[in-house]
This record gives sequence, C-alpha cells and structure tokens, in this order.
Amino acid sequence: MPVGPGDGSRPRDPGSGPSHPAAPLPPVHHPVFARLLAWTGGAAARGFADLRRELLAGASGTAVEVGCGPGSNFPYYPAAVRQVVAVEPEPYLRRAAERAARAAPVPIGVRAGVAEALPLADGSADVAVVSLVLCSVADPGRALAELVRVLRPGGEVLFWEHVRADEPGLARRQARADRWLWPALSGGCHCCRDTGAAMADAGFTVTRLRAFRLSVPAPLAIISPMIVGAARRG
Ligand SMILES: C[S@@+](CC[C@H](N)C(=O)[O-])C[C@H]1O[C@@H](n2cnc3c(N)ncnc32)[C@H](O)[C@@H]1O
Repeated sequence: MPVGPGDGSRPRDPGSGPSHPAAPLPPVHHPVFARLLAWTGGAAARGFADLRRELLAGASGTAVEVGCGPGSNFPYYPAAVRQVVAVEPEPYLRRAAERAARAAPVPIGVRAGVAEALPLADGSADVAVVSLVLCSVADPGRALAELVRVLRPGGEVLFWEHVRADEPGLARRQARADRWLWPALSGGCHCCRDTGAAMADAGFTVTRLRAFRLSVPAPLAIISPMIVGAARRG
C-alpha cells in the first residue's frame, strides 16, 4: 500500500503505535450490537450517504479512520485520499470492514486497535475521521489526545457525532439514558457527551461545523442532536 502525506513530499509510513506506556483498556466486544450494525450498515450507509460525503469532503493524503465499524464510510472517500488506515477493535465489525475495504475507491488497510491507543506513529496522518465513535469510546479525553498525537501539525479531524442537547429537557433525558440502559443496548454508546467542548479542550480549533437534529422516531430523540464538521490540530 502506498504511504505518504497529502502534500506529495517525503513518503511516510503510518507506523505501529504510541511509544508511551498506557493504562489497560476494557476490550471492545459487542457481538449482538456488532451484528446489528453490520446488518443495517449497508442500508444505513445508503441512507446517510450525503452526510458521509459531507464528513469526508476535503480529505486528502493519509487518513486514519477510528472505529470504522463495518466500513460504512469507505465508499465515500475522495480520490485525493492516498491511503486510509482504518482502526476497528470489534472483531466481527473488523472482518466486515476488511470486506468493504476491497471494494473501496481508495487503498484502505484495516487494523485492530482502540481510539485510546492508536496503532500509528506520531504525526503520521494528514486527516483523522471519527463518525459516531466518540460517543462509544471508553475514554474520550484519551482518544482525542491520541488524535492530536497521530495527526501532523495543522492536520484535521473530520467528525460526525451525536452530542448532548442544548435544550435542558432533552439533555436530562440523555443523562438518564446514559445512567441506565442506553450504553448496554447500543454497544457502549453515550448520548450525553459534549464532544464539541471535548475537542476544544484537547486543543482542536473548529474550522467547519454544522449542528442539526436528525429526524428519528420519538424514543430515539436522545441521539438526534448532531454535529458534522472539521477541526484543526494546533
Ligand atoms: C456506532 S458505531 C459507528 C461505526 C462507523 N464509524 C460509522 O460511521 O457507521 C461505533 C463504532 O465505534 C467502535 N468503538 C467502540 N469503542 C471503541 C474504541 N475504544 N476505540 C475505537 N473504536 C471503538 C465500535 O466497535 C463501532 O465500530
């Protein structure tokens, strides 16, 4: 697979991982949710095609996609992307992603790994992609610190995430759902995370943002507030 940054300069290998020791993380193993996601993934990919294109607009060079699931973003990578390192910890989803990578329009290599300890070298990515993932990782602060580490200076994280509602009533419902059944039902997802603020805390500067409400049946309103955009690493 070719390797290198988006500016056409010296080829670069994304490498193998952080050099620092880190606390152990729980394994990501959600067999029922994974099968549901992989089964609906194709339909969802088509339903969300415009959003996935919006997410990936402007991506170029070496991209790392974190928590790629069954590879629902893969068909939408623009030609300016030279290679994608797609990281997925869940074994069933990773196998589905490997199949999806074979049909992708750009070279994609799928690797095992978690957001909190990415299997990439420092500064090796031009772009990082997270879609519906920062809601699910065990430690969002550590995951964002890893994005800072693997992105080159000036590199961008492209994000599409569902987030905590501005509206107090809905935010209370989200917090209740996160305390009770929601994470267990949804592969560890949390619906009350303020991901925009967490990205700013991690040192990212938002360069493009669209906040919107997804149209969903009433019981799923807890996951309707969404943001899609880009943020630059300092
Ligand atoms: C709702 S799915 C989203 C999948 C895909 N990104 C998409 O846009 O459809 C959440 C994904 O995050 C992954 N995930 C959960 N915990 C993770 C972690 N700690 N590190 C990386 N990925 C994780 C799950 O295995 C799953 O693939």
